[in-house]
Amino acid sequence: MNFLLETLQVLLMSLVYSLEAFVRLFIPPRKKNVSGDFVLLTGAGSGIGRLMALEFARLGARLVLWDINEDGNKETASMIKETHGARAYTYTCDCSNREEVYRIANQVKREVGDITILINNAGIVTGKKFMESPDSLIEKSMEVNSVAHFWMYKAFLPAMIAANHGHLVSIASSAGLIGVNGLADYCASKFAAVGFAESMALELLATGCDGVKTTIVCPFFINTGMFDGANTKWPRIMPILEPEYACRKIVDAVRREQVYVYMPRSIYIAIILKNLLPTKMGVLLGEYLGAFNFMAKFKGHGKKSK
Ligand SMILES: NC(=O)c1ccc[n+]([C@@H]2O[C@H](COP(=O)([O-])OP(=O)(O)OC[C@H]3O[C@@H](n4cnc5c(N)ncnc54)[C@H](O)[C@@H]3O)[C@@H](O)[C@H]2O)c1
Ligand SMILES: *[C@@H]1O[C@H](CO)[C@@H](O)[C@H](O)[C@H]1NC(C)=O
Repeated sequence: MNFLLETLQVLLMSLVYSLEAFVRLFIPPRKKNVSGDFVLLTGAGSGIGRLMALEFARLGARLVLWDINEDGNKETASMIKETHGARAYTYTCDCSNREEVYRIANQVKREVGDITILINNAGIVTGKKFMESPDSLIEKSMEVNSVAHFWMYKAFLPAMIAANHGHLVSIASSAGLIGVNGLADYCASKFAAVGFAESMALELLATGCDGVKTTIVCPFFINTGMFDGANTKWPRIMPILEPEYACRKIVDAVRREQVYVYMPRSIYIAIILKNLLPTKMGVLLGEYLGAFNFMAKFKGHGKKSK
């Protein structure tokens, strides 16, 4: 295409997309009907994984639940049975183990069928200063929080591509967008998760596979227990999110095919400021907002003060 024509087309389409985005502010896109979908969730045995499973079950989707914790996972399935009368398929799987992922994925394909919505949600956190973090935990964080996503895509994406239909959801973190003092290995793993999901979305688009959608979720702390003890200095601007709220936001975003989901909304501002402000000023503001002390009193799972 000639230069002038191509530029003109881009200008025109930019205008169209800007208008579309503006209209979307007032009329959000319709939520898609997921009643025919097969939803696979990793880390479905607790926290927001469990809540998302219940929400998708309420919407009539068929659920495939994966967790390394068999008891928690079974409990989620029985909650689904009790509240929605639906059967959920449970599989005990360590999704950081590639061979196990492939083996159980084949079992799912035989016993349930092709997955149309894949939610990479399983995650762990070390919560120590980097130099004090055991090597094994650092490796594990990378394996569970990001590398596992590679194998999950390898296992379930081919069927989505063949049908040109599906949805890939990455439960990353705001720690996948901004570095945090005391969360170095976690941040590294979540940055990787964001980069992977974003790149794969582009790879799919570039190959014309526009029916396979991507949603990348970057929440601040959620009150599930995983980050117990972590604190926020200004809860008005940076609230610790309630799990039910986070879950509702995520499921809505998936149904509206929203690509990026940051919460609370102040994360959008934080990202802009990080890239816009002089570095020293960014650090100053971060410190003022309490970002240096998020992890000072971290306890995490199992060591609850209550
Ligand atoms: N809680 C927060 O503050 C917060 C904030 C931002 C993002 N996130 C992310 O949200 C996701 C869910 O977190 P949550 O708060 O519900 O935590 P959670 O600890 O309640 O749930 C995580 C689940 O993942 C499972 N899991 C851990 N390792 C696994 C493995 N190797 N294979 C399979 N399953 C495994 C656990 O058994 C658990 O059921 C995580 O990816 C987390 O990083 C959490
Ligand atoms: C969703 O689709 C199913 C089957 O196609 C249909 O039975 C159901 O009524 C739809 N639900 C809504 C809310 O439109």
